[in-house]
Amino acid sequence: MDNYSFQSVEISANIIPLLADFTCGVEMMDDILHSQGLLSELNTENPVAYCVYDDNHVLVGFCIWGIIYQPVDFNGECELIPMIDIACLAVHKDYQFRGIGTAILNVVCEKSSNIIPSIQFVHVDALDCEDGSYSAVPFYIKYGFEYYSRAGEDAARMLYKLKSV
Ligand SMILES: CC(C)(COP(=O)(O)OP(=O)(O)OC[C@H]1O[C@@H](n2cnc3c(N)ncnc32)[C@H](O)[C@@H]1OP(=O)(O)O)[C@@H](O)C(=O)NCCC(=O)NCCS
Repeated sequence: MDNYSFQSVEISANIIPLLADFTCGVEMMDDILHSQGLLSELNTENPVAYCVYDDNHVLVGFCIWGIIYQPVDFNGECELIPMIDIACLAVHKDYQFRGIGTAILNVVCEKSSNIIPSIQFVHVDALDCEDGSYSAVPFYIKYGFEYYSRAGEDAARMLYKLKSV
């Protein structure tokens, strides 16, 4: 993979202008990225945002992650488990399929398990359009996520078990 730099950015209204020229090519996602809805939809604790830049300072990737509590069924027993939540992940449409999305997930998994060693799962409501027009599910499956349930019309809830050390 080429050289990319990850910059942590504060989550505030100042993020929206940063994303003005960024497009991932999926209209539904681009609409969220370009609106204040990006901030109002966040339901994670202590969210962290990353901007990923190439050598020419082009914004090639963007991610927001944080902690959520999700009910998980363990053999009929439902438990509320803290998880890393990928609230938003997108790679610029001209830079997709070059390993950037995978690199972002690697950084999130590494950082989050350093910060909170007891965390065991990564959660995402992956974009999965009901009309079959687009799905990010194959990307998450390649990484090792497993399908858990539907999460509304256009999303599939997926979980990834962090490797225990
Ligand atoms: C989904 C997304 C983040 C993946 O990022 P990326 O940088 O293109 O992914 P990578 O290059 O790291 O891909 C890793 C693997 O997944 C595969 N893959 C990536 N996106 C895929 C997709 N939509 N469908 C099928 N396979 C996909 C790649 O081919 C690659 O497979 P390989 O290892 O066999 O070559 C990016 O395509 C994107 O921003 N899509 C639009 C927005 C979106 O869906 N975001 C996720 C919302 S939950």
